[in-house]
Amino acid sequence: MPVKTRAAVAFGPNRDLEIREVTLADPQAGQVMVRFLASGLCHSDLHVLEEKAAQQFPVILGHEGIAEVVALGEGVTEFALGDRVIPYLVPDCGKCAFCLSGRTNLCVEMQARRMAGWTPFSLDGEPVACFMAIGSFAEMSVIPVDMLVKVDRAARPDHACCIACGVTTGLGAALITAKVTPGSSVAVFGVGGVGLSVVQGAKLAGASRIIAIDTNAAKKEIAARLGATDFIDASASDNIVAEVQKLTGLGADFAFECVGIPELARQALEAVNPAWGMAVCVGVMPAGRELSTAPFLLMTGRRWTGSLMGGAKRQDVARFVDMYVAGEYALDDLVSHRLSLEDVNRGFTMMKSGEAVRSVVLYEQ
Ligand SMILES: NC(=O)c1ccc[n+]([C@@H]2O[C@H](COP(=O)([O-])OP(=O)(O)OC[C@H]3O[C@@H](n4cnc5c(N)ncnc54)[C@H](O)[C@@H]3O)[C@@H](O)[C@H]2O)c1
Ligand SMILES: [Zn+2]
Ligand SMILES: [Zn+2]
Repeated sequence: MPVKTRAAVAFGPNRDLEIREVTLADPQAGQVMVRFLASGLCHSDLHVLEEKAAQQFPVILGHEGIAEVVALGEGVTEFALGDRVIPYLVPDCGKCAFCLSGRTNLCVEMQARRMAGWTPFSLDGEPVACFMAIGSFAEMSVIPVDMLVKVDRAARPDHACCIACGVTTGLGAALITAKVTPGSSVAVFGVGGVGLSVVQGAKLAGASRIIAIDTNAAKKEIAARLGATDFIDASASDNIVAEVQKLTGLGADFAFECVGIPELARQALEAVNPAWGMAVCVGVMPAGRELSTAPFLLMTGRRWTGSLMGGAKRQDVARFVDMYVAGEYALDDLVSHRLSLEDVNRGFTMMKSGEAVRSVVLYEQ
């Protein structure tokens, strides 16, 4: 029997989300029903609201959740009722060339399912889209089992939800995509939830110089607490590239663009060592925008690459939760605000103003 669940519904771009009782379909074969404990607000949700990413409306956003399994679809044996799970954006079908490669997380099912547009949610008989097949701004959702990761119950839900996207993206970009080396120098453009996680990943990898760059000077202190050795206030600098070069000699060994601005991705490339520096695009650039640079910058040996979800596979998400539980990195500073679902719009306002580092919706249990 379908159930009713409360959700924050986005009825269109540039509008506040509205709290509604939506209908949630039963889990089918290969799916489970989950009840969320918490969900972080990621800038990718805001990109959809600001029409920087294509998305059908109405939609239930939210993709940074942690949940408990409350019902199983037919034949599901991988999970049991009560399991603590994180839904991960990238499925792991185990059959496609990407899944079988052992190298990437780019399962073809991710795009295929987006195109198919299936959703478990409806309102007054009309479908309501489910963002990234997760929809964690609803109290409950129905999710395919190949997107779920069973995680340690010892991880606090208000912290661990952020591992579902922002933390995994940042740690993975540093540790999996770039493979930051001990003693290296790292520049991070934009230290929000994702960029601060790159800082933590670079510290875990043993980088000796970590330069945080942000237009919001208030980020300086928190970046330093998480491992940044230097801070460049981008709003007060007219040549960030020169400042990074001054701090690193020939340029940083690694640079990460974690905002989503093409010009910053170019600066990240210019700021790395000409011979072996690697610049990684992590921020999601608005649809239709292009990257450009002077070809000679690449000829000397610089590498310009990107990282989707930090290159992390499902098992990496569980590993990052275990590392958090073991105290290898902390999330106390990252999660700055806890909100009820009714307050989700305030979370987006604080994301835009820079007041929040990461806001998290906490569901009543
Ligand atoms: N690659 C992926 O798989 C992936 C996954 C998650 C998020 N993202 C993207 O990463 C980006 C960051 O997400 P987030 O959740 O950390 O966002 P956020 O809003 O928490 O942080 C963005 C930070 O960038 C800073 N900033 C803004 N303009 C700047 C500029 N010109 N120069 C320097 N800093 C600037 C802001 O002050 C803020 O601290 C977004 O584009 C998001 O869509 C990508
Ligand atoms: Zn995200
Ligand atoms: Zn696959």
